[in-house]
Amino acid sequence: NRVVLAYSGGLDTSVILKWLQQTYNCEVVTFTADLGQGEELEPARKKAEMAGVKPEHIFIDDLREEFVKDYVYPMMRANALYEGLYLLGTSIARPLIAKRQIEIARQVNADAVSHGATGKGNDQVRFELGYYALAPDIKVIAPWREWDLTSRTKLIEFAEAHQIPVSKDKRGEAPFSTDANLLHTSSEGKVLEDPWDEVPDYVYSRTVNPEDAPDTPEVITIDFERGDAVAVNGEGLSPASLLAKLNDLGRAHGIGRLDLVENRFVGMKSRGMYETPGGTILHLAHRGIEQITLDRGAAHLKDELMPRYAELLYNGFWFSPEREMLQAAIDHSQAKVTGTVRLKLYKGSVIVTGRKSPHSLYSEKVVTFEDDQGAYDQRDAAGFIKLNALRLRLLGRRDA
Ligand code: ARG
Ligand code: SIN
Repeated sequence: NRVVLAYSGGLDTSVILKWLQQTYNCEVVTFTADLGQGEELEPARKKAEMAGVKPEHIFIDDLREEFVKDYVYPMMRANALYEGLYLLGTSIARPLIAKRQIEIARQVNADAVSHGATGKGNDQVRFELGYYALAPDIKVIAPWREWDLTSRTKLIEFAEAHQIPVSKDKRGEAPFSTDANLLHTSSEGKVLEDPWDEVPDYVYSRTVNPEDAPDTPEVITIDFERGDAVAVNGEGLSPASLLAKLNDLGRAHGIGRLDLVENRFVGMKSRGMYETPGGTILHLAHRGIEQITLDRGAAHLKDELMPRYAELLYNGFWFSPEREMLQAAIDHSQAKVTGTVRLKLYKGSVIVTGRKSPHSLYSEKVVTFEDDQGAYDQRDAAGFIKLNALRLRLLGRRDA
């Protein structure tokens, strides 16, 4: 028996690696994904080798383009926000990790997969719904739900007993927990647990404080094709490089910070801090291009479906027929969502200042307050209002 572990090379998954070898007496295969978390991944190879993993059982994959193209972009087409604010940066990465883990399990003939998410959160659900959807008979090992390493101290004792290097700052309590990828960095726990206490400055890692951002605004343009961003300031970029470019711009202007108390799928509320610099710009820009290219009926239906879609992602149902149904409808709506948006970045804010499209539905001729030269007959409005008012008048007469 063989198990494929989602392995970051950090303390927790290093302990899990050793624990799996001991407890299950099995061969561990490690999988480390580059999702643009901005960490060196080669050290993970060294650590896995040191722990006795065979070189051909160490997988380190660059998934950045696939992540943005096939996960982040489809989600952006939906304008997805969980509970009105959260851009789902962690939620959207889990299905891809699960998918790749299952592929590797097939390739190396493993009968089990394992992850380092705790038994209290959303991530365990997201990983495992992904595993089961793609490999219905896979065995799942979630060490945090099984072992007796119930405290940081015990975890570090275990690490030291097994020659797992523990860095100085991990020896004490880690001050908070993070998860990072090209779309966002999230921080939770420890110093963030009291929702009344302001997030300390040192928790922020990928945006400048808006108060310290440049005093002059920066104006940029983003080009869209069928709902997807394809260029920044006229320069065509692949999905991952485009998001990285927007992250740089967002970082400099302090864009995309969010302090949120959210409802986890398992039922508890949790407080977190998110930094989604490029994603925040992209979200607002996409809304900007939809403003002129989407019909009202399509736009409003999208807005009704969006919370459902966001909740499916948050709860881990990426690989579900209902998510695919919604995605098909959303993707269909994007056929004419092509054009350019201009935005102003300034001290934490993103403002759309212009949009244009070859498929624009906006008609200056119709909407103008000046002489419209017969493009619209104001007299039509009288009947429109009268019929809409009919039941209100009947009610008014009865109840007055
Ligand atoms: N609450 C976020 C979510 O469920 C992030 C979870 C992972 N983040 C972390 N800091 N451990 O998507
Ligand atoms: C975890 O529990 O591992 C992180 C938080 C979450 O999944 O919600």
